[in-house]
Amino acid sequence: MRRIQVLEDAVIVVRDGKIDYVGPERRTDFPITEDFDARRATAIPGFVDSHTHLPWAGFRESEFNRRLQGESYEQIAAAGGGIASTVRATRAASEARLVENVVERARTMVRHGTTTAEAKSGYGLNVEDELKQLRAIRAANERSPVRLVPTCLAAHEFPPERRGDAYVDQIVEEILPAVVHNKLAIYCDAFVERGVFSREQGERVLRAGMALGLKPRLHADEFSDSDGAALAVELNAASADHLMHVSERGIAALARSNTVANLLPATSFFLMSQRYPPARALIDAGAIVSLSTDCNPGSSMTESMSMVMQLATLQMKMTVEESLTAATLNGAASLGLAEEIGSIEVGKRADIVLLDAPSYLHIVYHFGVNLVRDVFRDGVHL
Ligand code: NIG
Ligand code: FE
Repeated sequence: MRRIQVLEDAVIVVRDGKIDYVGPERRTDFPITEDFDARRATAIPGFVDSHTHLPWAGFRESEFNRRLQGESYEQIAAAGGGIASTVRATRAASEARLVENVVERARTMVRHGTTTAEAKSGYGLNVEDELKQLRAIRAANERSPVRLVPTCLAAHEFPPERRGDAYVDQIVEEILPAVVHNKLAIYCDAFVERGVFSREQGERVLRAGMALGLKPRLHADEFSDSDGAALAVELNAASADHLMHVSERGIAALARSNTVANLLPATSFFLMSQRYPPARALIDAGAIVSLSTDCNPGSSMTESMSMVMQLATLQMKMTVEESLTAATLNGAASLGLAEEIGSIEVGKRADIVLLDAPSYLHIVYHFGVNLVRDVFRDGVHL
């Protein structure tokens, strides 16, 4: 993760949306039809944000304000707020409204350098509204500047009308089959947490998804150690996400696996927690670590991957090089796209961000401002 290659005075040649050449001097054996002068910018791969909850309606700024006066995220959730309040607003929203919301958020993302993002449902919590959210992701993807990868997170919370195993039954018997029948998701996810889905319920949901062809990801060990990391590894999940409370055993399991440890430090920051995921321990043990925003209205209201890199380095003690790899190539790996995106290499899609900065170090060093000047996706200047 620390070995990144820096080329000075480089050119990048793009053909048919893919990188054809990258190197210190312009090759002369093929014609250049269109030239873009990067004016000494720093080019980095487009960010890959591999954990977001994009298709929601309604904001939760007043809950945020209550948190600022001392109430906790879990207290607000227990009092009927939290995820449940976004479920109410999302159920009430039209599909067209959700499409607009996703496209708008994707525009904000791309202005901050993200070219690919995973997007989860999980604010519908019934057949109709989970499908509505996933259809909104699909429709938004047609117009979105950001490439979107859909995940069904029906197991995000229990809906008010159906609690416990009755809802797990509905996910397994109705929601996941309908999602797969309509080809609306690639991944399935579950929030395994004290007070939400038990390890057994999460496992049941993910195994049902796997039997239908959905690949698992997992919200693991966010507010407590629920043995989520070990479960993710056991299921050979694409990622185990959050991990604020991951155990030694969980770290060791992740280190021996191909399950990507997806860390979301903006969530710790936004929840005013002193507790960040143990990035150093995970990396030093040999785990594959990625970084994402967790963009959602309750626990991480941001689209900015550079903010996430700033927190990763300044709070979790990752190096800038490690955090850049985590925010690009390793996120791509967790989405099964490491051969296509996540680095500026010949043969990969030309997803390139030009920074108004003399070096990639400025992403962290020059914090709190947006250095993104130009963004290309599949070679197209956005
Ligand atoms: O990833 N962990 C659960 N879900 C989100 C929070 C969603 C919300 O508060 O609306 C998360 O932190
Ligand atoms: Fe999340």
